Amino acid sequence: MTALDLSSPVAVVGTGTMGQGIAQVALVAGHPVRLYDAAAGRARDAAAAIGARLDRLVEKGKLPGADRDAARARLQPVERLTELADCGLVVEAVLERLDVKQELFGALEDIVADDCLLATNTSSLSVTAIGGPLRHPGRLVGLHFFNPAPLMPLVEVVSGFATDVTSATRAYETARSWGKTPVACADTPGFIVNRIARPFYAEAFAVHEAQAADPATIDAILRESGGFRMGAFELTDLIGQDVNESVTHSVWQSFFQDVRFTPSLAQRRLVESGRLGRKTGHGWYDHAEGAERPEPHTADKEQPPAYVVAEGGLGPAAELLTLIREAGIQVREEDEDNGTRLVLPSGGQLVLADGQTGVEFRDVVYFDLALDYRTATRVALSASPDTSPRTLAEATGLFQALGKDVSVIGDVPGMIVARTVARLIDLAHDAVAKGVATEEDIDTAMRLGVNYPVGPFEWDRRLGREFAFDVLDEMHERDPSGRYAPSLALYRHAYAVEDRREGTS
Ligand SMILES: NC(=O)c1ccc[n+]([C@@H]2O[C@H](COP(=O)([O-])OP(=O)(O)OC[C@H]3O[C@@H](n4cnc5c(N)ncnc54)[C@H](O)[C@@H]3O)[C@@H](O)[C@H]2O)c1
Repeated sequence: MTALDLSSPVAVVGTGTMGQGIAQVALVAGHPVRLYDAAAGRARDAAAAIGARLDRLVEKGKLPGADRDAARARLQPVERLTELADCGLVVEAVLERLDVKQELFGALEDIVADDCLLATNTSSLSVTAIGGPLRHPGRLVGLHFFNPAPLMPLVEVVSGFATDVTSATRAYETARSWGKTPVACADTPGFIVNRIARPFYAEAFAVHEAQAADPATIDAILRESGGFRMGAFELTDLIGQDVNESVTHSVWQSFFQDVRFTPSLAQRRLVESGRLGRKTGHGWYDHAEGAERPEPHTADKEQPPAYVVAEGGLGPAAELLTLIREAGIQVREEDEDNGTRLVLPSGGQLVLADGQTGVEFRDVVYFDLALDYRTATRVALSASPDTSPRTLAEATGLFQALGKDVSVIGDVPGMIVARTVARLIDLAHDAVAKGVATEEDIDTAMRLGVNYPVGPFEWDRRLGREFAFDVLDEMHERDPSGRYAPSLALYRHAYAVEDRREGTS
């Protein structure tokens, strides 16, 4: 099955933000493009706006003037749906309402040819439900573009319950021929990206709600330790708190209020207060002109310890031992199986976030997971009321000696990066086990759709197969609501498969 022929006209119905972007993509790829919008004059305005964007591409040297002229000539706003009769593909980007979309596709079915592919850009509705009333639901597919469509490479190609394989393949190949990176996914709440990304926001909000750290500190840790492009608070201020909350809410509802997707009360209050983010001048942060950006908590300078005792190889934090030695601090190694702790001269312990809390042990400081300890510029530490000031000072001095800023946060299990990454990995495994998408497509989707530094499976491979399960298992023990319950898929991945392999080797 090949991509739609370039001579075949593409229709875009609904010419708001997404419709204009998608139309521009199809147009620049070489198709004749028809624009239709229910609001009078809007399709014409959209054509003018797309034309202006093409002008800017020419000015920037990204599009030859002749190509712009040819593209403009291929772009046609229309006033009646019947003018879409000869289109080979109709992409719908109208209001996010099931009845509106169903009615539109019902009308289109009477207009377009039998072999015309129908696509919806819905981000939260079920493709299956949208296609339910159609006479031929097999030709309806989800083509989920990301905003801004001309710049974002990812397109989720969603197969509804009744979508024909040929329709999905044609949509996939067409998106690829337009220069996009398509990923195939089943019709599930949130598709790939909006399903798996939920904990990135939820865990940051939860740590804040637990009074363990403020937004600026959590954001700095997610960026500088976790390697994420933006922290959850600044990113949701950019997206719009109302938009982000409504995606979370819709995924949670669609999963029949699965506790793993429970929305945040703190975010609810923010939305209720009208603090929607940059667009209203205030969200988690104050975006008013001249407003000061709060600084993350950064610990004062402390003396590094003269030596540390490493019990085991530190697991996913093994690189730290090299860095400590490079900083001129002596590492005395003690042979412990798979240990993840350093003993400090104070006698206190420095332990990689593992889902337990500091109050359970005497004199412990937890340190958070980093994507790459060598390049991380900040590391989070947490101390409990039972941690001695000397242990915290030595732990702080140790990371400062490695050139890191240190943020001290409250005693929350799984700290910040470790719990976030563990949950992302869990949801990713769960999604594969439930036939949502392949591992490869999930990693691609999370890197390209939400700019994660690495996909969850790649991260999982780096951490070792047991890390995410162990963190969540410990967290689940301390919060048995089900929010942190590791999925069966993660359990199988971490232990069952391993046991079987050992048994057969
Ligand atoms: N904005 C995003 O970031 C984003 C990203 C991915 C997907 N989506 C999805 O894309 C779709 C459109 O979103 P948007 O942000 O572009 O919305 P928008 O409000 O900017 O544009 C919607 C357009 O659809 C028109 N419209 C409404 N009902 C119509 C009908 N029955 N027939 C024809 N036109 C109609 C409106 O007049 C408007 O111009 C939604 O389903 C949304 O969930 C949005």
